[in-house]
Amino acid sequence: MAILNIKVFPDPVLRKEAAGVDVFDEELKELVEDMKETMYARSGIGLAAPQVGVLKRVIVVDVEQVDGEPSPIVLVNPEIQEAKGWIELEEGCLSVPGIREKVKRRRFVHVKAWTEHGEPVEIKGEGLLAVVLQHEIDHLDGILFIDRLSPAKKKLVKAVLTQG
Ligand code: NI
Repeated sequence: MAILNIKVFPDPVLRKEAAGVDVFDEELKELVEDMKETMYARSGIGLAAPQVGVLKRVIVVDVEQVDGEPSPIVLVNPEIQEAKGWIELEEGCLSVPGIREKVKRRRFVHVKAWTEHGEPVEIKGEGLLAVVLQHEIDHLDGILFIDRLSPAKKKLVKAVLTQG
């Protein structure tokens, strides 16, 4: 296992669309293990493969990590099947350090995906879990949370990000 280097805005890899996984091999399992280790090492609650420079549709999420009790969710080729309601929570991103802003997203999502072992998996998330799932799935399409801010906020964030 290894802690991977996290790509930071404006690295162009963060803007690319990730490819679907069709081979569930040792390389994929290794990527997942490394992504989990990297997420915990950086105290993140989610990480998408493009953030470590790998353009594959793989995310890891753990919104319950408290007192060293990890319960990671691994989703390969995740797809949102259903979304309901709206919620606005403050978000940050390991790839956009120093920025935290409220983002409006769906309050509930039902996601279908595969495990790293090639088994189908479904997850229903509400609140923070729903938000993190949407944030990480966005990464697979080259979308960052700062893209989902109001035009005025976007301008402000852009000014901060281009400083120095
Ligand atoms: Ni992120």
